[in-house]
Amino acid sequence: MNFNLSEEQLMIQQAARDFAQTELLPGVIERDNQQKFPHEQVKKMGEMGFLGMMVDPKYGGAGMDSVSYVLAIEEIAKVDASAAVVMSVNNSLVCAGLEKFCNEEQKMKYLKPLASGEVIGAFALSEPEAGSDATSQQTTAVDHGDHYILNGTKNWITNGGTATYYIVIAQTDPEKKHKGINAFIVEKGWEGFAIGPKEDKLGIRGSDTHSLLFTDVKIPKENRIGEDGFGFNFAMAVLNGGRIGIASQALGIASGAYELALKYAQVRKAFKTEIINHQAIAFKLADMATSIMAARMLCYKAAVEKDEGKDISEIGAMAKLYSSQVAMDTSIEAVQIHGGYGYVKEYHVERMMRDAKITQIYEGTSEIQKIVISRSIVKNSK
Ligand code: CAA
Repeated sequence: MNFNLSEEQLMIQQAARDFAQTELLPGVIERDNQQKFPHEQVKKMGEMGFLGMMVDPKYGGAGMDSVSYVLAIEEIAKVDASAAVVMSVNNSLVCAGLEKFCNEEQKMKYLKPLASGEVIGAFALSEPEAGSDATSQQTTAVDHGDHYILNGTKNWITNGGTATYYIVIAQTDPEKKHKGINAFIVEKGWEGFAIGPKEDKLGIRGSDTHSLLFTDVKIPKENRIGEDGFGFNFAMAVLNGGRIGIASQALGIASGAYELALKYAQVRKAFKTEIINHQAIAFKLADMATSIMAARMLCYKAAVEKDEGKDISEIGAMAKLYSSQVAMDTSIEAVQIHGGYGYVKEYHVERMMRDAKITQIYEGTSEIQKIVISRSIVKNSK
């Protein structure tokens, strides 16, 4: 594995870093306080090619590699983890799945506007009674010949209110269990499709999370993704890539919190010296820097293997499991290093600590990542 970033990758990293400082940092505390979605900033991210980073330019994407994607998400998440999840969901859960598994007509109609950032998308798998146990889908799509009729509720949907197009997973044949699940592209505004109120969350408050309610929604058959019964495998394949996005978001939260803690420790004095000169603080920073580097290596390795076309289920799960723990640990320590200042909003680290928690929950909890990793270990040991 080559550890040197190419010139192009370094340029993308710098562009994301500059964008985060100039466009995201100024309003990040206000957006968190008021649960305000970063509409303007997301529009600009689209113009910069950040919403369809890995998609072929013929479908409106930027045609970049997955390491560039990790670099960009890390930089965005260092400053604004909410903007990073909007980006991650649109890139990994929506665009990547559409590019890999949709037919040409679906790609021209839906992928192009999504990858270019003209509109954004959402991915609807979780339900009130089916989160980790994703095969237990209660939402149904009944086959009526040239269309399906969709009924049910989806929960915790990132971009739920702002999306224009939704990938919705539903059970079409309960007898067949997960082989009877399908994925559909559903448009906002279709009759019977209602969006629930915005969730009032602990963290990533700048992103919008909603329930989706479907009552007899008519989906044309041409909006089904792939062959009949492919929906669960589609969702799993998409989530494998999505986990690299969330791992990178977690990495960004961790490195953002670490950088602020380091700067603070270099100027804050206690007992007649800068606090970095106290071993209790210096050792915390040493641990933070080490674990962040390890998380970064896992994210890069997962991204490289994705571009090599390898099975990334295990390495993607490892990257997410580890990076999300590092985000949590590092942001807690960053608050601790800041002392009382860390507990107030102006210093950013308390927000990072709140934002970190969700990275251990969405796109598969840490416990689910351990299921994925351990099953893979067993399979490969035979
Ligand atoms: N990659 C590819 N395929 C996979 C897979 C993976 N990581 N995990 C399972 N599969 C496949 C299996 O091979 C099997 O397919 P076949 O029958 O064709 O061989 C099928 O999926 C069913 O697998 P299992 O028998 O292992 O199913 P299970 O019920 O025992 O467990 C699970 C599956 C891994 C626990 C799965 O339910 C899971 O990943 N759950 C977590 C769901 C999740 O991540 N939700 C996040 C919601 S999205 C979100 O958060 C978005 C957001 O807004 C930010």
